[in-house]
Amino acid sequence: MPPRVRRKLAFAVGVVTAVLVTAGVAAAANGGFTPLEPHSPNAQNTRTSYWVILGFTVAIFLIVEVTLAVFIWRYRAGKRPRTADGDQVHGHTRLEIIWTVVPVLILAVIATVVFIELPGIANAPAAANPIRITVEGHQFYWQFDYPNGARSINDLHVPVGEVVDLTVRSYDVVHSWWIPQLAGKIQAIPGRTNHTWFQADQIGTYYGQCAEFCGIFHALMKASVVVTDQTDYERYISKTATADLGRAEFEGVCATCHGMQGQGGYGPTLSNNPLITQPAAVDEIIRNGRGNMPPVGDSWTDQQVNALVTFMKTHIYKGAGTSGG
Ligand code: CUA
Repeated sequence: MPPRVRRKLAFAVGVVTAVLVTAGVAAAANGGFTPLEPHSPNAQNTRTSYWVILGFTVAIFLIVEVTLAVFIWRYRAGKRPRTADGDQVHGHTRLEIIWTVVPVLILAVIATVVFIELPGIANAPAAANPIRITVEGHQFYWQFDYPNGARSINDLHVPVGEVVDLTVRSYDVVHSWWIPQLAGKIQAIPGRTNHTWFQADQIGTYYGQCAEFCGIFHALMKASVVVTDQTDYERYISKTATADLGRAEFEGVCATCHGMQGQGGYGPTLSNNPLITQPAAVDEIIRNGRGNMPPVGDSWTDQQVNALVTFMKTHIYKGAGTSGG
């Protein structure tokens, strides 16, 4: 083997090894190549389609790559001069028919599976009387409206076993609602209303993340769905959500840029700014934004603004002139 070829071969082997090693790490963490354990019927359907398609693609990958490696070895130059041509072969009708028909059949099987699974992904069970909740994407938080008028930030509370119908909206830029264990992504697009649904089969907390790049704090735009029994859900939307709103707003909305104690970060320090204790001033800035700050509260009610001011007065404001936090 000439030295030039040997160097190239060593390089290729190095690259392939690096790819395989990193792929192993990604797969071991489960967040890599395999879908998370589904906890809603539509997430289950998505996973079935995923495994069927993955099965075919892995099989094809192995057939192609193994054949390639075997042929490279079997028909290597050996002692022949590198410039000598191999045998010139042309045409093999049976082989050509096979390699046309087999992919057509594979694609037909994949299409059939996907079309069987699709209605179960897109449509909520028809007989159910769903709980209707509105999801609003904002820079950089999620806001939820419950049937009784309650609101919550970033944490969506639902009862186990019930069909939940989500109306998904945005008022600023495009976001994407995604709780992997409870169905696939759905975009929140300004000027458009999208719908998705889920039916959580188990009590627990399911985590998600905005899946559309929406600005500097896209990565911090997380969401969780808290699935409880019916009693806890009723208590949450009738009492807890309202009582907890000020804290949820500060920690879910303001703290992203201004720090958990209002100590400052990407945004300026809040803990020494008397404006945060004045409802009119807070109202003005969160509804209209200022400088780099988006109008985070453009869809807020007065009650929400007051809840935030009350929380900041009690827990964040440390007096003018302090260095904060
Ligand atoms: Cu919202 Cu990314």
